[in-house]
Order: sequence, then C-alpha cells, then structure tokens
Amino acid sequence: MNVVARTLQNQSSRSSDHGLTLLLEKVYAEKGWDFRNYKRTTLSRRVSKLLNAGKASSYGEYFDLLDRDPSEYYRLFSAVTIKVSEFFREPEVFESLSHIIRTELSGSPIKAWCCGCAYGEEAYSLGILFSEVMPAHIFAGSRIFSTDIDCEALEQARRAAYREEALSNVPDGLRNKHFVQADGLFKVGMNLRSLIRFGTLDIIQSPSIKGVSILFCRNLFIYFNKALQESVFQKLDYALKPGGMLVMGKAEVLPSSYAHKYAAIGRGLNIYRKL
Ligand SMILES: C[S@@+](CC[C@H](N)C(=O)[O-])C[C@H]1O[C@@H](n2cnc3c(N)ncnc32)[C@H](O)[C@@H]1O
Repeated sequence: MNVVARTLQNQSSRSSDHGLTLLLEKVYAEKGWDFRNYKRTTLSRRVSKLLNAGKASSYGEYFDLLDRDPSEYYRLFSAVTIKVSEFFREPEVFESLSHIIRTELSGSPIKAWCCGCAYGEEAYSLGILFSEVMPAHIFAGSRIFSTDIDCEALEQARRAAYREEALSNVPDGLRNKHFVQADGLFKVGMNLRSLIRFGTLDIIQSPSIKGVSILFCRNLFIYFNKALQESVFQKLDYALKPGGMLVMGKAEVLPSSYAHKYAAIGRGLNIYRKL
C-alpha cells in the first residue's frame, strides 16, 4: 500500500472529502485532467458510485487500484465527464435560434462553436438548422467547430450514427431528409458532416477559439464551481463576436460580472446576445 493510501486509511472522519481532494490531485498529476474545481457534490456522487460498484471499499483502496491498473483512470474520467445529450435538446431553443439566424445572421457564412458537445448531437442539430434556414452558398461557407474534452466521445461523434432514442425530438420530415438508416442506426447525411469539424478541446486548459457568431455551451457549467465558471466564461466571451449569440443550458446562469455585456433573448431560453 502506498503512502497516500495508508494516510487515507488513517483518516476515517474526514476521509471522504479529503480523499476526494487527494484523488483529484493524483488524477491531475498523473493524467493532466483538471477536475479540481468541478462541483464537489456531483464529483463525490460519481466517485462513490465507482467505489460502490465493488472497485474499492475506501479511497485508499481506490488509489491502490489506480496504481495497479492505470486503465481505471479512464473509467474514472468517463464517470466524471457526463455525456447525456440528444438531438434538439430543448426544442424551443432551436426554434428561437432559427428565427434569429433567418432574420439577423443569414447574410454571410457563420462560424459556430459547440463547446462540450458530447457525442455530437447538438452540433448536428445546429447543422440541420443551418441547412434548413440558410441559402446554399451561405451554408457552404459556414462551419461548426464542435469540441469536447473526451476524444472517444468525439470519435463516436465523427461516426455520426445514433440510436433512435436520441432522435425523439427530430420531426419525421427532418429525419427522412438528414439521416440514412443502416444496421438499426440513424446515420447523419454527408452534407451535414462536411459542415462540422470535431476536435478535442479542454475548455479549462486549452486556448479558446476566435470570431464565433453562435456559441453553444450547454450543460457544462453545471459541473463547475463558481470560480471555474468565471474563468471559463472569460474564454467564451473572448470567442464570441459582438452581436454573437451565446446559448447556455436551462439550469445555468451567466456569471454576474459579465451580465452587463449580454442581453437575454426571450424568456427562460438562456440565449444571450453579446452587446
Ligand atoms: C452533459 S454533456 C452536454 C452535452 C451537450 N452540450 C448538451 O447540452 O446536450 C457535458 C459535456 O461536457 C464535456 N466536458 C466536461 N468537462 C469538459 C472540459 N473541461 N472541457 C470540455 N468539455 C468538457 C463532457 O465530456 C460532456 O461531453
């Protein structure tokens, strides 16, 4: 048993919270993944689930397991980076955006960014929207950069094949137009796939993108503590052009220090125009 594991076993009263801190430091030191400022409650729930799944009966044992079997780091990574998504998640957001693109943004090609895109459902949904509302030559010049910390999720996103459940918000007309059915899966058409560029980007540690007119960053801030939300928001703000649209998740709020730079569009949609 290593020194950290032994120390942990001796600290029964505060072992859980302290154990989590040491675990996050270890993960950062060994793998460079910085989860240290993710929300403790969510992290603690996810890690406890791993431990309870029979992996280890204490943090100390879990440290030993990580040392013995480094592939466990990837299971931990997967447990911490929650990748729930679906096509046209919160359809009213896409309806409102459709109107904005049609009336304000369709005059020239758009550079969009989906930050924290999971398996690509959000990026392809935005792509469908582009293809439905943009003139062909504007569509051809537009790009959606779609990024996530998880390169395996991005590999799946590039494969662009989805189970039917992921498409429950996609109306039949759009389903028939933009997907091809093969082997029980729905594959996104080539037209959309050439619009979207997938790439690994850790929003905490990587530099930002520039010159973006539409920026989706939904259901990612909910996993960050307040201080991390502030520092990451700086990168989103840097990326967005004045007049550009920021789309956040329903349960997320703009950091108060940026509220004066953004105007909310509609009510309860969490779409903001950068002033
Ligand atoms: C719940 S999903 C959100 C997917 C999509 N935006 C949506 O709302 O349906 C959160 C995504 O953020 C990614 N993520 C977590 N930490 C990240 C980081 N530091 N940088 C970039 N992406 C991250 C996860 O891998 C996951 O795919």
